[in-house]
Amino acid sequence: MRKVEVISVNLGRRSYSIYIGEKLSQVGKIVKELGLGKKVLVITDSKVFHYYGETIKKGLEKEDYRVYIVKVPVGERHKSINQAIKLYEKCANCKLERDSVILALGGGVINDLAGFVAATYLRGINFIAVPTTLLAQVDASIGGKVGVDLPQAKNLVGSFYQPRAVLIDTKALKTLPLREIKTGLSEIVKYGIIRDKNLFEYLEKNLEKIRKLETDVLQTIIVESVRIKAKIVSQDEREERGKREILNFGHTIGHSIEAAEGYEGYRHGEAISIGMLKATEIAVAMHFCGSELLLRLQKLLKRMGLPTRIKKMDERKIYRSLFLDKKKKGGKLRFILPRELGDVFICESIPFHLIKKVLQ
Ligand SMILES: NC(=O)c1ccc[n+]([C@@H]2O[C@H](COP(=O)([O-])OP(=O)(O)OC[C@H]3O[C@@H](n4cnc5c(N)ncnc54)[C@H](O)[C@@H]3O)[C@@H](O)[C@H]2O)c1
Ligand SMILES: [Zn+2]
Repeated sequence: MRKVEVISVNLGRRSYSIYIGEKLSQVGKIVKELGLGKKVLVITDSKVFHYYGETIKKGLEKEDYRVYIVKVPVGERHKSINQAIKLYEKCANCKLERDSVILALGGGVINDLAGFVAATYLRGINFIAVPTTLLAQVDASIGGKVGVDLPQAKNLVGSFYQPRAVLIDTKALKTLPLREIKTGLSEIVKYGIIRDKNLFEYLEKNLEKIRKLETDVLQTIIVESVRIKAKIVSQDEREERGKREILNFGHTIGHSIEAAEGYEGYRHGEAISIGMLKATEIAVAMHFCGSELLLRLQKLLKRMGLPTRIKKMDERKIYRSLFLDKKKKGGKLRFILPRELGDVFICESIPFHLIKKVLQ
């Protein structure tokens, strides 16, 4: 019997539980406990549907839910307004009501898109997240950021809309391609650096087992990551109190690398891997932290098979997107920099020449 860990996001009336290690087939039980309406629209992508669609459908039908399924084509390009419109039409055709449920089954793309539809259809209907990539399990499905991309930039249109529950089945990662596992690991390394020295050390010690996707080890790193994100989100839901912002460690430069490549060259976690190293290089150069931390981070990311340096990319393109970053406040670039393992701070006073130097 595997143990199910339950972690809560505490947000008053909008609080919810995250069930980690629960079987997908138990989905009906979780929806039932919430006492929601009897119609569930499952939004998934065609690949994830192939693996897990039937299990989810049966799990819901077992508890007498009326299940509708809609498959979105695979890929970031479908996290779009056009796709959202198609989904609204589906909601209308299924006659979803205020107490009905939209369930996202898939990676971060499906989570953000389905969550956005749930946030806006009928001014908001119940949303349940069933993330199936490592990245979505430790990051995208927690915290309520939902939205779609525009041709101009990623995530430009969206909302904060919390799910009613999150079901994480770690066994669903068995079918995930290795590159997707690595991209999720990068965010877990991030949690170690920003908040949890022990998690970082655990990753260093257990990398072989993680590679083999050993259930216990995966469960541990997912639980610890979710705990950190859930706590931060509980303290600063809408990124207004300077707490949630530390989750952007590695993302200032990371986002720019992704944008410069037109979101095609790198997976998100790969760009973040480089971004975390560049931020740490800046912290070392400004004497906020010692070079041992940089070496240790570099070693771990390399062992994970994540990129540690920028490949033949136009530097100017990175600058351009760096200074267009939507997270920039008052014209200043904000970086999250490490002081030591488990401790970071927000820094706005980084000399331009230093940013330039680390990017070369
Ligand atoms: N909302 C947030 O807070 C937040 C945080 C981080 C990232 N994101 C968003 O997440 C998106 C990236 O998510 P992603 O990396 O999960 O990518 P993704 O959703 O595109 O999934 C990656 C690939 O894995 C496949 N897949 C998913 N689960 C699988 C499984 N169990 N077995 C086999 N294949 C499977 C998918 O079909 C897809 O081909 C981006 O749009 C990003 O903006 C959102
Ligand atoms: Zn990220």
